[in-house]
Amino acid sequence: KRRAVIFDLDGIIVDTTGLQFRAWKKVANDLGCNFSEEQNEQLKGISREDCLKQILSWGQLQLSPHNFQHWMQKKNDYYLKYVEEINASAILPGVQELINSLDRKNIPYALGSASRNAGTILRKLNLVSKFSAVVDGNDVNEGKPDPGIFLLAAQKLNCSPLSCVVFEDSIAGIKAANRAGMISIGIGKREILSEADYVFKSLQEVTESFLLTLPALKVQ
Ligand code: BG6
Ligand code: MG
Repeated sequence: KRRAVIFDLDGIIVDTTGLQFRAWKKVANDLGCNFSEEQNEQLKGISREDCLKQILSWGQLQLSPHNFQHWMQKKNDYYLKYVEEINASAILPGVQELINSLDRKNIPYALGSASRNAGTILRKLNLVSKFSAVVDGNDVNEGKPDPGIFLLAAQKLNCSPLSCVVFEDSIAGIKAANRAGMISIGIGKREILSEADYVFKSLQEVTESFLLTLPALKVQ
């Protein structure tokens, strides 16, 4: 049977969480709003539009459509400036080992990211050719927690959602995986990712033997 793994990008494959935070903090501060690390947790995994809407609602601000687009652009300009510096050294610990063992076991893997910058970042990491499919924010209208990104990845992998395992660092991403009917593995803090089927502190803790015992990945 077909089985597959789907990786989120930001905070799973690559260490961009701090860069996203810095870019949003600059925008929030420019708009006269506060922005904390706890608030940033809520923005992880959700689309650029939804992030700005959330920041505006926390700050009880409203923007005209024109200004909304302006600040979206501004955030992306800041972010892309930070992303310019990224190279393979930003690949998170455990990623290489995990994809090596998936390669050894012939288990295909896809990227399922809400970011419209996913392609740019994957190229900087020299990882594009490793993925059997890439689905990102350019391919869908709805970001996570909508399951669309992961369902499209499963479709491209030609794999039933029930035979997919998702790695996610965000609350919204875990919800998306669960709604897609996939096994969700949270990487981060258990208190934050409480809806995940499994939680590990880092990808480094995810062993090949653990993965192969998951019913979704078992060869039947
Ligand atoms: C997700 C990030 O991967 O992509 C979110 O976790 C981000 O924080 C979202 O808002 C959209 O990213 P981008 O690069 O299209 O603004
Ligand atoms: Mg993420």
